[in-house]
Amino acid sequence: MSDTPILISPSLLSCDFANIERDVQAIEAAGADWLHVDVMDGHFVPNLTIGPPLVKAIGGVATKPLDVHLMITNPLDFAEAYARAGAHVLTFHWEVARSPEQAREVIAAFRQHGVPVVGVSINPDTPVEELAPILGEVDLVLVMSVFPGFGGQSFIEDTLDKVRWLRAQGFQGHVEMDGGLNAETLPRCAEAGANALVSGSAIFKSPDWTACIADFRAKAEKATAHCS
Ligand code: DX5
Ligand code: ZN
Repeated sequence: MSDTPILISPSLLSCDFANIERDVQAIEAAGADWLHVDVMDGHFVPNLTIGPPLVKAIGGVATKPLDVHLMITNPLDFAEAYARAGAHVLTFHWEVARSPEQAREVIAAFRQHGVPVVGVSINPDTPVEELAPILGEVDLVLVMSVFPGFGGQSFIEDTLDKVRWLRAQGFQGHVEMDGGLNAETLPRCAEAGANALVSGSAIFKSPDWTACIADFRAKAEKATAHCS
């Protein structure tokens, strides 16, 4: 089991975009470790969200690291833009690279532009074993527990096996899960070996964000202690 700490990363996709500064400050005060920023291009996923200027603007009011999840077909073209915009974690999808060689080009571009934490993500229908050749080259693996594109979807159970597989390979970096995480599913992600836990609608729709994040963290830490 990895020694990576539990990190709660609220997804700003569920915040009030008309009051993003207010919500960023409030979610940080509520105990967020990272701020998850969902970048969608209308091609890789059937939804369109934000681009580099807004990521930069969020970075200008945030004090916590930006956890930027690129759901775009051409991460290589945007490596510099998102690095400059202030991404601390920058994650691309394995499905747009399709080969270890192309993935390595993206990883190299992210590193060249100074991204501190380089991540790769896989969709629910992509076998995690495909990542084996590049596992030693990334700092984070994001296991999608819904099909990317929208918040508020239901957690897909069998994605937990991918987390177990990653830890069984000895992967010591961050394992992140994203999609459908709530008080019931989030502790199970931690128990399987995930340490970075993204949650959008469950946190932002809760009446007390501080209590919700504290509850998630306590449940995740308890689940981790239980299995180690
Ligand atoms: C989905 C995004 C997620 C989303 C999670 O494509 O990558 O980050 O915001 O939202 P919930 O927690 O509501 O499933
Ligand atoms: Zn995401």
